[in-house]
Amino acid sequence: MKNILVTGGAGFIGSAFVRYMVQAYPHYTVVVFDKLTYAGNLDNLLPVHDAPNYRFERGDIAEAPTVRRVLEQYQIDAIVNFAAESHVDRSILNSHAFLETDVIGVYVLLEQARQLGIKRFHQVSTDEVYGWIAEGAFKETDPLQPNNPYSAAKASGEMLVRAYHVTHGMHTTVTRGSNTYGPYQYPEKMMPLFITEAIDDRPLPVYGDGKQVRDWLYVDDHARAIDLVLHRGAPGEVYNVGGENEQHNIDVTRRLLRLLGKPETLIRHVADRPGHDRRYAVDCSKIKALGWQRNDDFESLLAQTVAWYQHNAWWWRKIKTGEYLEYYKQQYAQRLAEAKS
Ligand code: NAD
Ligand code: TYD
Repeated sequence: MKNILVTGGAGFIGSAFVRYMVQAYPHYTVVVFDKLTYAGNLDNLLPVHDAPNYRFERGDIAEAPTVRRVLEQYQIDAIVNFAAESHVDRSILNSHAFLETDVIGVYVLLEQARQLGIKRFHQVSTDEVYGWIAEGAFKETDPLQPNNPYSAAKASGEMLVRAYHVTHGMHTTVTRGSNTYGPYQYPEKMMPLFITEAIDDRPLPVYGDGKQVRDWLYVDDHARAIDLVLHRGAPGEVYNVGGENEQHNIDVTRRLLRLLGKPETLIRHVADRPGHDRRYAVDCSKIKALGWQRNDDFESLLAQTVAWYQHNAWWWRKIKTGEYLEYYKQQYAQRLAEAKS
């Protein structure tokens, strides 16, 4: 591998992967290909802006001519696809862009990669494709039962990746990551939303009883897992990547408030997300057998994450304007007006 295309590299996890790869592999050229949707942000890539092995191209993965031009121009030999519409609540409000990017976009990338004989294709997927599980943990061989338009679109994208491996013999791999947290996460997801709202003494909208369980994975651990599978994963295989760190949402919320020195009176129990998955859990033995290990110190990683948002208000304050405020109003105004504390 010499020239890697990282689609969606201006987003949260994609940019962490790029910052890591540019340093770890100075002999690779890392080309970010990103549409810069509301979630894409070049500030996330400022730390690598001057690196000699980093390039940026703006474009849409669902537009074949642009994808082809970039693949040819940089003689790409591996694609890592992070590009996606990624927020469940937005997929409930309007699913269209999810199908365009998370399904058609994956198809366009695969087809252009096939035509040009590109050696490696890695798809960044999610544990949400399994649906939810009351006890135990999903294995890679379990059936996919997505419950919301986001996870249904991601599952569809994965099925296309599988088909290109089986039908065309493409060397593909897939990772199914769990809920990821850390710096540079767009403040619509629970953690950065709650941290930044609490900093401003604003209410935290906890959906339903807050007893839903998520398995929190630190962003750098997620990035290293993808690097490992890209280099060592077997063709056609899928790998779960979990934090092995299950927490009730309400407990995470209380921890965040403690770390910020803010009162629990900021918590509001609001109307639940329709189709809300109750619990996610994945078995990670397969990727561990490849040599991956997570950092298990949730307490200090959470404290570092909170400190990052405290010290980098420049990064999130300019996001929380314009379109963001429109979305916030649509998602939360009525919920908060009707909330129970
Ligand atoms: P994000 O929303 O922060 O970033 C998505 C990026 O993709 C943005 O830079 C955006 O501009 C870009 N993009 C969107 N549509 C595009 C298109 N049509 N063409 C090119 N670029 C486009 O997302 P994230 O949280 O970093 O997630 C990255 C990937 O990881 C996604 O595929 C997501 O499904 C998956 N994932 C996320 C999590 C999580 O907890 N955030 C967990 C598991 C898996
Ligand atoms: P989120 O960060 O949207 O990730 P996902 O839907 O992919 O799990 O949500 C994490 C959990 O937090 C999920 O159970 C929904 C819940 N949540 C709230 O309770 N309130 C909120 O405002 C948000 C955004 C999420």
